[in-house]
Amino acid sequence: MKSVIFFACTVLSAAALDYKKDVMPILKEKCYDCHSDKAKKVKGGLRFDDEEHFFKRFAKNDVVIPGDWDASYLFVTVVWPEHKKGAMPPKNKGERLTEKEIRTVAQWIHEGAKIDGEKGKKGSDELDPEKILKFQDGRLVTEQFGPAPKIVEPEWEEWTNAKGVSLTARFRGLSKGKATLELKNTGKRVAYPFDQLSKESQEKAKKLGADSEMMNGN
Ligand code: HEC
Repeated sequence: MKSVIFFACTVLSAAALDYKKDVMPILKEKCYDCHSDKAKKVKGGLRFDDEEHFFKRFAKNDVVIPGDWDASYLFVTVVWPEHKKGAMPPKNKGERLTEKEIRTVAQWIHEGAKIDGEKGKKGSDELDPEKILKFQDGRLVTEQFGPAPKIVEPEWEEWTNAKGVSLTARFRGLSKGKATLELKNTGKRVAYPFDQLSKESQEKAKKLGADSEMMNGN
């Protein structure tokens, strides 16, 4: 009997996800600074640490629409590109949700947003996020959200200039013959003219630039 229960728990869709058990721990780690009694002033009047309060807030601004994850503002704010106003957490103010965590939020809403033992309507099977919510390299590529927002930060890598001096930075964009790099030691962003980079780094910037052009539409 024990093994049957264990099996049921490991299959995501077997039992409805529960707010306190499955979703709250994610929000606790990444959102409580501003959305719980930890915050000096609770932001947007939205608290995640108090189930009753949160449940009452479902309807306002469509924060959670049980059964309709892609219309729920809670989901939308965490998948918006980080530079977009309203994206959560606000840019540079906290860590973004991982793909797995976003899936959990979507699945919980899809299954009726069970909270405090109560559950709303379940979404239709063809809108099951397990079927249609798609990510590539940590970025959302589900069609109805338009160009994929960037969810993961680009990686820190070694870059070399034309003189062979190397530094650790991450790629931030390509425009008008310049590659913008965020330097690890200072946190500053510097736009390097292409000819000041080594051949290898130029190639790398071109490749990353082509990838991000596809991804960063809005
Ligand atoms: C550094 C502070 C901060 C963090 C961290 C933060 N938020 Fe927010 N959040 C805000 C502010 C400020 C607002 C109000 C924005 C506004 O009203 O324009 C807001 C508003 C919201 C709203 C809209 C509420 C409404 O009814 O309009 C949602 C949903 C939300 N946040 C979700 C989250 C989630 C989920 C996380 C964690 C992944 C998070 N926030 C982390 C500051 C934060």
